[in-house]
Amino acid sequence: MRTVDLITKKRDGGELTENEINSLIGGYTDGSIPDYQMSAMAMAIFFRGMTPTERANLTMAMVHSGETIDLSEISGIKVDKHSTGGVGDTTTLVLAPLVASIGVPVAKMSGRGLGHTGGTIDKLESVPGFHVEIDNETFIELVNRNGLAVIGQSDNLTPADKKLYGLRDVTGTVNSIPLIASSIMSKKIASGADAIVLDVKTGDGAFMKEMAEAEDLASCMVDIGNRVGRRTVAVLSDMSQPLGNAIGNALEVKEAIDTLRGVGPQDLTELCLTLGSHMAVLAGVASSKEEARALLEQSIADGSALEKFKTFLAAQGGDASVVDEPERLPTAKFRFEVPSKEAGFVATIAAENMGLAAMLLGAGRATKESKIDLAVGIVLHKKIGDSVRIGESLATIHANNEAIQDVLVKIYESIRIQQQMVAPPPLVVGEVK
Ligand code: URA
Ligand code: CA
Repeated sequence: MRTVDLITKKRDGGELTENEINSLIGGYTDGSIPDYQMSAMAMAIFFRGMTPTERANLTMAMVHSGETIDLSEISGIKVDKHSTGGVGDTTTLVLAPLVASIGVPVAKMSGRGLGHTGGTIDKLESVPGFHVEIDNETFIELVNRNGLAVIGQSDNLTPADKKLYGLRDVTGTVNSIPLIASSIMSKKIASGADAIVLDVKTGDGAFMKEMAEAEDLASCMVDIGNRVGRRTVAVLSDMSQPLGNAIGNALEVKEAIDTLRGVGPQDLTELCLTLGSHMAVLAGVASSKEEARALLEQSIADGSALEKFKTFLAAQGGDASVVDEPERLPTAKFRFEVPSKEAGFVATIAAENMGLAAMLLGAGRATKESKIDLAVGIVLHKKIGDSVRIGESLATIHANNEAIQDVLVKIYESIRIQQQMVAPPPLVVGEVK
C-alpha cells in the first residue's frame, strides 16, 4: 500500500484499518516511511481525529514496534500508575511502597525525563547508593521477593512513539488527544502492565490546563486500555497549585518519607490514598475502594508502608537509614525564607511558574544533557486558602548558590494574596472508568 494513499484517506476523514496502521507504524519505525510523510499524517490526524478502533490499533502498533517487557513470572495482577505530570508530584515515591505493603506487586519502569524536577529515578538517586541499573532477572526476582522494584526504562521500548513524539514536537502536532493517549498507553502496555491507573492532572501546572481537555484525554486513554484488555481507571486531579509542599528531588524524597509515616501534606496523602485504592481494587487485593483505603491507612499507621520503603531502598543498594535520618540526604548549603509582603489569604500559587523557580535553582533538566542538583528546591509553607500575616514565611528556598534574586522574583510573582477568604480547590475532581 502506498503511504500517500493512507495520508489522503485520513486527510479526507476516512478510517484507517488495522492493517494500514500496522504498515504505517512499521514503515516509520524501520525508516522506509520518511519523516515528511509521517508529518503530513500526524497533521491529518490532528485535524481529523481518530475513531476509538483506530486509537486502539495505533497504540498496539506502537507497543509492537519494539521490545515488550514480560512480567508473567511475577505472580499477581501487575497494576501500573501513570501521571500526566505536574509540579512537585511526589506520588510515585509514596504510592509504590504503599501499595506494595498491602500486596499489590509493583514492577515499575521509570524514566528521568525533562522537567522542573527530575523524574522518579533522579529523585530516588538522592538516596546514597540507590541505583536502577539492574538486569531484568534481578528486577523480577526483587518484585517477587519484596513486592517492589524500580528499573530504568529500556532504550528499545516503543521506538515508534519515541520517533513520532520527536516529530510531533517540531510539527505542531503534540496537542492531539488521540496521539497523546496512544503515546502514553503504548509505553505502559509495553512495560508489562496488566491494568493501569491514570492520574490525569488539570490546571495551571498540568499538560492539559482545561478540565474539559483533561476529561477527553482521560476517557480516550481509558477506552484504549479497556479495548486492548487492560483494565484502566483514570482519576482527574487538581494541579492548579503544586502538589504537597516540596518541589525538588531530595526534598521530595523527604516529603515521601513523611507521607509514608503519616505526617505528610494532606493533599499528597489524599491523592496517594485515592490512586492506591484504585490500584488495590484492580490488583484484586481489595474488593472495594473503601476496603482498599482502610488497608492503606492501616499500613501507614502501623509502619508497614515505611518498612516496605526501607526494604526497597536497601535491595537496590540504597542507604535505608535516610528514612530515619533524612538529614543524610543531599542538603543545600543555603536556606532563604520568603516573607509575605501582605496579610490575607493565599488565592493562587501558579504551579508552572513555581516549577520554573525550582528549575532556576537547578532542580530540573532543561535539556537531556543538563545535570540535576538533587539538594535544591522549594518548600511551600502556605497553600491556597491558608491565611498569612505580613512577614510570615511563604516558602523556604534551598539553594547551593547565594544569587537567588530571580528565584525570589518568580516565587513572589507566583503567589497571589487577597483580603477575602478563599476556599482550597478540591483535589480529586473526577473519575473515568
Ligand atoms: N506525554 C507522552 O508520553 N506522550 C505525549 O504525546 C504527550 C505527553
Ligand atoms: Ca511535592
